[in-house]
Amino acid sequence: MPERKEKFYITTPIYYTNGLPHIGHTYTTVVADVLRRYKKMRGYDVVMTTGTDEHGVNVERAAKNAGIPESEFAARMADAWRALWDELGLTADEFVRTTDLRHVRTVQWLFRLCKENGYVYKGHYTGLYCVYDNAFVNEPKPGNLCPDCDRPLETVTEENYFFKLSAFQKPLLDFYKKFPNFIQPESRKNEIISFVEGGLKDLSITRTTVRWGIPVPGEEPHVFYVWFDALNAYLSAVGGPDYEKRGMWPADVHLVGKDIIRFHTVYWPAFLMAAMLPLPKQVWAHGWFLMDAAKMSKSKGNVVLPRPIANMLGMDALRYFLLREIVFGQDGNFSYDALVTRYNSDLANGLGNLASRTAAMLEKNFAGKVPKPGARLPQDDVLAKEAQNAIGEVLERYDQFEFARALETIWSVIAAADKYLTTEQPWALGNSHDEESRKATILWTTAELLRIVAALAYPVLPDSATKVWRLLGQSNAIGTVELDGLHWEQLVPDTTLGKFQALFPRVEKTEAIERIEAMANEELNPTAARAAATSSHSAPPAGAASAPAASPAEKIGIEDFAKVEMRVGQVKTAERIVGADKLLKLTVDIGSEIRQICAGIAQYYEPEALIGRKVVVVVNLAPRKLRGVESNGMIVAASVGPEGRPVLAGFHEDVEVGARLK
Ligand code: MSP
Repeated sequence: MPERKEKFYITTPIYYTNGLPHIGHTYTTVVADVLRRYKKMRGYDVVMTTGTDEHGVNVERAAKNAGIPESEFAARMADAWRALWDELGLTADEFVRTTDLRHVRTVQWLFRLCKENGYVYKGHYTGLYCVYDNAFVNEPKPGNLCPDCDRPLETVTEENYFFKLSAFQKPLLDFYKKFPNFIQPESRKNEIISFVEGGLKDLSITRTTVRWGIPVPGEEPHVFYVWFDALNAYLSAVGGPDYEKRGMWPADVHLVGKDIIRFHTVYWPAFLMAAMLPLPKQVWAHGWFLMDAAKMSKSKGNVVLPRPIANMLGMDALRYFLLREIVFGQDGNFSYDALVTRYNSDLANGLGNLASRTAAMLEKNFAGKVPKPGARLPQDDVLAKEAQNAIGEVLERYDQFEFARALETIWSVIAAADKYLTTEQPWALGNSHDEESRKATILWTTAELLRIVAALAYPVLPDSATKVWRLLGQSNAIGTVELDGLHWEQLVPDTTLGKFQALFPRVEKTEAIERIEAMANEELNPTAARAAATSSHSAPPAGAASAPAASPAEKIGIEDFAKVEMRVGQVKTAERIVGADKLLKLTVDIGSEIRQICAGIAQYYEPEALIGRKVVVVVNLAPRKLRGVESNGMIVAASVGPEGRPVLAGFHEDVEVGARLK
């Protein structure tokens, strides 16, 4: 009987559905996908799960705002999340929705086990409560105001089921000691240990003030507290009460952001201990991608979306940047500038250039076949050794979750190959027998190095590594290559090469950034973009994708139009933005306040000529950053001619500043 492969179970958090994914969420999912591909290449039977966290007050409220039932709202959002992950090539083996029946059963089962084992009791919870939002508030604003809606909070007492978290202080501390790698990275581990040492209070795990949740059987109107509900997704994904059949539980690694580490390393193991179920092997907490030193959020207007980046530079480029730019476990800044710089230097000039040079030389000199190497010189062996050594080193780094260093090592091999070609100059060799033989050796060596680079880089760069693999005439699927068997000297001479497909075409930085930002604006403000149908938006620079006019089939209702608030504004100041030749930075008086707005009109309007001019401003757009400058609104303009020349909308009669357009 064939031996069963060792299993490896990876999870991402399940994501809240009151918004759509930004690159923070994408980061966690990309890491999970990289690990999934990597572990498969190390011979594991891998399962990776993700999903959506659909219960709770926020979804209740968002559904109300959208005017649809919660179940419908949650289903739409879950579809959108799943579709985006698929589009980005981040398909998990299991996608759990907390409204799935399999999940509901698991949560109720875990609760029953905890209760039967004596760790659940009924009690009362008293706290500050927002009547408007239907939610208890842990951190009120000064003056006991709701942090969400600024209304006064009331003290409310509610009947709850409590989980005896206090009973798990010692078992948890013992567990951390026995399994020192459970919490990663180290710095987080110390933080959690001191939190637990500081004492644990029992935790209320049901609510009667929330409607949209999993019911506690026989105890309606109690529903489960969102975290008791959500954490169970990891178990429900792989069988729930029947987890033993699937053989995947316990998880080998829960990937989480640092903000939710406490739930995963304190509450979750305590629930499982109480239910006497196996505990996960590891929780790995990564840092945050920050925008201007702040966490991304839609209300701050600083979210970065994955799709526009993938559309402009390819998903591999985003994956590479996320893993290469910051050390896994630490925070780092996201900037389009750094993204495009890395794209051009590491991907276009690095891997892309090496692959295209090699492909061209092989095609020209060896009629599209892998050459047979002749006698080796010491410099060939030096390069061979470097590539061979990199294999062990890269695997070690992947194993340690040191993704940036794994990539650094791979790129040092690419740099060595570049240098080798520059020194050996195969293009300068002639047609004598010896020179042909030398050329064959050099190009075989470079091609073999590329093969190793492709296999090692595949977990991070699946699309481009596949292209390199095909170029080298490898007929097996690169994702099934066994990394443990990868070594130098496996490239077979005479193999017919595949067609070269360009990997990373160089881009012009300013233009690439402008196009990404334009696509992001479009995605973030689709209604506004549509309703202002005849305008070019000025927020994305003119010349970039302009708002598509609604097709007849997609007529919008008056209520959609009413969502767009347009007012008469008057330009107070106007100036050019250094490094962005299409953008002007304006300050505009809109009656109630002065707004800073970036407009993509710099090629058509002189800043001085705009001062005092009355314009139409969409005032209720979420703020955006354009080339690092905050833009808080949009100036309406017609888009004229094939080049989309912006012509500002205006008035023939005198209108009052601040007047609303209807
Ligand atoms: N629903 C909970 C998780 C329940 S798991 C049982 C939740 N959801 S979330 O959508 O808010 O966040 C999911 C993950 O995205 C978290 O791990 C969080 O850290 C990560 N990120 C959200 N913004 C981020 C950045 N800006 N940077 C990196 N990751 C961040 O929490």
